[in-house]
Amino acid sequence: MGQYSSIVSVKRNELSANFDERHAVEDSEKWKEVLKKLIGKDEIASVFDVETGTDFLAIMRTELGCKSDGIDFAEGMLIIGSQHAVERGVEVGFQLGEAVNLPYPDNTFDAVISSRALWTLLYPDKAFQEWKRVLKPGGMVLSFTRTQGKKDEVNNSVCADETESRLPLRSVNEIEITQALMNSGFKSAEAILLPKDLISIEDIKPWFAIKGIK
Ligand SMILES: C[S@@+](CC[C@H](N)C(=O)[O-])C[C@H]1O[C@@H](n2cnc3c(N)ncnc32)[C@H](O)[C@@H]1O
Repeated sequence: MGQYSSIVSVKRNELSANFDERHAVEDSEKWKEVLKKLIGKDEIASVFDVETGTDFLAIMRTELGCKSDGIDFAEGMLIIGSQHAVERGVEVGFQLGEAVNLPYPDNTFDAVISSRALWTLLYPDKAFQEWKRVLKPGGMVLSFTRTQGKKDEVNNSVCADETESRLPLRSVNEIEITQALMNSGFKSAEAILLPKDLISIEDIKPWFAIKGIK
C-alpha cells in the first residue's frame, strides 16, 4: 500500500497546480445546501474529510459554521487548500497522511466525508473498514461521487495506467459502491441522487451521495 501511495501522490503533486482549474465548475452555494441537508448544521458534530485535496468540502462545511478538518497524502494539494482557506477567511485543519490509516482512535467522528475520492482507492474494503473504525456508533460515511465510466471515456488519469486499471471502484456504479460498504460491515448503505445543478456546465454524469451508517 505504501508503494501505491507514493506512486499516486507524486503524480498528484504534479497535478495539483491545475487541479482547481479542471474542477472549478461546481456551484458552492448549491453544494452548501446539499451539505446542510445531508449532514445537518450541528456546530459540535465532528466531521472529517478524507482525500480532502484542495479542501473543496472541508472549506464549504467550515463556511457553514461547522469546522471540518481533512487529510490528503499530496502536499501540493494541501498547500493550495490552505491558500483557499486563507482567501475565504476560514480556518481548516489540514493533515498530510493516508486515508486508509487515519491517526485517530476508534469512535472519534460523527461523519467521515469525501468527494471524488472513492474511485482512487486501491483497497476500498480497507478504507471503508478504517472509516468505520473512526466513526462513532451510528456515525455516517458520506461520499460524493460521480460514476466514472470506462477509463477511455474520461481523461483525468492520476497514476500510472497499470495502477489505474487495478482500482476496484474505477468504473463501478453507485449500487455496487453501496454493496461494497455493506460488505465492509456498515449497518445500512444507500445512494442518493443529487440535483443536476451542483455543477455549472451540462454534464452527463450525475452526482450521488453514497451514505453508510455504522
Ligand atoms: C480527485 S481528488 C479529490 C479532492 C477533493 N476531495 C475534491 O473533491 O476536490 C482525490 C484526492 O485524493 C488524494 N488521495 C488519493 N488517495 C489517497 C490516499 N490513499 N490517502 C490520502 N489521500 C489520497 C489525492 O492526493 C487527491 O488530492
